[in-house]
Amino acid sequence: MNKILIVDDEKSILDLLSMVFKKEGYNVYTALSSQRALELLDERDIDLVITDIKMPGMSGLSLLTHIKENYPDVPVIMITAYGSTREAVQALKAGALDYITKPFDIDELKIVVRNALHKRQLEQENIHLKKELTKRYSFENIVGKSKKMQEIFNLIERIAPTDATILIYGESGTGKELVAKAIHYKSLRRNNKFVSINCGALPENLLESELFGHVKGSFTGAYSDKRGLFEVANKGTLLLDEIGEMNPMTQVKLLRALQERKIRRVGGVEEIEIDVRIIASTNQNLKEKIKKGEFREDLFYRLNVINITLPPLRERKEDIPLLVEHFVEKYSKQFRKEKKEVTPEVMKVFQDYHWPGNIRELENVIERAMALSQGNKITIDDIPKEIIHPATVEMPVSIPEEGFNLNSHLEEISRRYIEHALIKAERNIKRAAEILGISYRSLRHYIDKYGIKK
Ligand SMILES: Nc1ncnc2c1ncn2[C@@H]1O[C@H](COP(=O)(O)OP(=O)(O)OP(=O)(O)O)[C@@H](O)[C@H]1O
Ligand SMILES: [Mg+2]
Repeated sequence: MNKILIVDDEKSILDLLSMVFKKEGYNVYTALSSQRALELLDERDIDLVITDIKMPGMSGLSLLTHIKENYPDVPVIMITAYGSTREAVQALKAGALDYITKPFDIDELKIVVRNALHKRQLEQENIHLKKELTKRYSFENIVGKSKKMQEIFNLIERIAPTDATILIYGESGTGKELVAKAIHYKSLRRNNKFVSINCGALPENLLESELFGHVKGSFTGAYSDKRGLFEVANKGTLLLDEIGEMNPMTQVKLLRALQERKIRRVGGVEEIEIDVRIIASTNQNLKEKIKKGEFREDLFYRLNVINITLPPLRERKEDIPLLVEHFVEKYSKQFRKEKKEVTPEVMKVFQDYHWPGNIRELENVIERAMALSQGNKITIDDIPKEIIHPATVEMPVSIPEEGFNLNSHLEEISRRYIEHALIKAERNIKRAAEILGISYRSLRHYIDKYGIKK
């Protein structure tokens, strides 16, 4: 049952309204002053407040301000004296949902209250649903309701507690590092370190000393003994990011470390036992690299004990609304701004775009929009133009086995566009030329050349 609080310094009005709303089936509380109203707000879970504006002591406007600060979701309806429009406007500006003038029309008041409570209920359901959804469809900060992502969550759950080596494959920005961390934090190693290194970012010898450490004097610049990441990550997890970039010599050493569970620092003789779970990730096709002789097959099989392939965002567009919600929430917290609604128009643009940078790109778009947008909505103006009109359209390219003639293929494409434009322009050549962005004369030329009927 909804709880309504009515505030007025005239007892007769309280009695009247109290009777009316009790009959309507609400739980009614009354207060003869703002002070008393504050107490009731504090003690009861009030759903809606109706208050007079003019009262001795703390005015209805001050009460309104207090409510908006402390109970922002509680709708407030003001009662004003006939003809005091200025006050009413002031109240609306201060956050009142509506106002009614005295002497009031009881039926009107009933409708205003009913609508306000209905709206509040919808809002609360909405908030609740959204929370439920993100809870249900997120896993260690990884958001996704698509079947593919749900399967991955399942897989992570099952493999995390094992010590199996894992190879994560996915295009740039699909969440490889996020998944690697989830595996670590779901594993028994969670209280030890998660260390990650980008194998493509360092020159050969530096990568080796980063991974395995070195002893003093083993090369110029090695001024002291240094532990490598295998030692730093001991009893924890080591993510070898961009494993496809690892040079052949380091590949051999890594293979040996994985097989023997022992390493030797660069320039050292001592064998050091290691207990590290390895996760490798890449956005390259390692099988292709093996064929070209750039990646060792034996290492590949050592790493690929369990494979997780993260689908690109364009193959799981049903995840977009949840991801958007997730990032709006993230950046509203970070920027200390109110949460914003994303307009359906923007959502449509997101659905149509092919997201080459995947989730990272989506995140950047939302971050930027949250920073730029002025109102309480993210609109098309807050979205980069390239996303709305991608410069490069993805075109499937396939060349038939029996061979191909580029010129006749391109002519065929031109012919189809021209015919299409002519139909659109209802056979008006001048208009068709405009649609195609070419001159009248060129279009005439092509029509003759391709023998298109005018
Ligand atoms: N499913 C997801 N839910 C929520 N956030 C995600 C998800 N996937 C990726 N992200 C976010 O997108 C960004 C990129 O993710 P991450 O760094 O894990 O990608 P990556 O595959 O390692 O990319 P790269 O190949 O470029 O290194 C991060 O900020 C990450 O938190
Ligand atoms: Mg990464």
